[in-house]
Amino acid sequence: MTDQQTAFDQIGGASRVDALVEAFYDFVETDPAYAGLRAMHARDMTTVRAALKGWLTGWLGGPRDWFAANPGVCMMSMHRAMPIDTATAGQWTDAMGRALAQVEVDREMAAALHEVFGRMSANMTTR
Ligand code: HEM
Repeated sequence: MTDQQTAFDQIGGASRVDALVEAFYDFVETDPAYAGLRAMHARDMTTVRAALKGWLTGWLGGPRDWFAANPGVCMMSMHRAMPIDTATAGQWTDAMGRALAQVEVDREMAAALHEVFGRMSANMTTR
């Protein structure tokens, strides 16, 4: 890894972020284990799929278009306004862990991301 390489580069760029988010929401939409999490979202998840791709891209150090289009939006604050409990937070982290494995993100990076997402989800819990 060079000094210039971002986590976005390391994960494999836009196509890998795209595949990761598609795999994540496919699990959320189809696996009954995530019914609670699914029920919190709109029926049509096209918008949220695009938003998570955009947010992840910038958060990983890639192009910041999503952040430019959503100035001042804090993901933690936005979620803390939602009725997130430990069960649904766990569903998010679990589905993301499976998506990271499915799209074959480098094992070390997948483990690090899974851990960080687990902490973020836990901190989004409001009940
Ligand atoms: C690391 C953890 C998480 C990240 C990075 C994340 C990321 C995102 C992003 C980027 C959006 C789209 C925001 C937009 O509308 O532009 C979103 C929306 C949403 N997230 Fe999360 N999320 C996380 C955890 C969770 C958890 C734990 C839950 C529920 C248990 C959840 C439920 C939702 C819902 C319901 C929406 C749709 C909100 C709306 O459109 O009004 N998220 N999330």
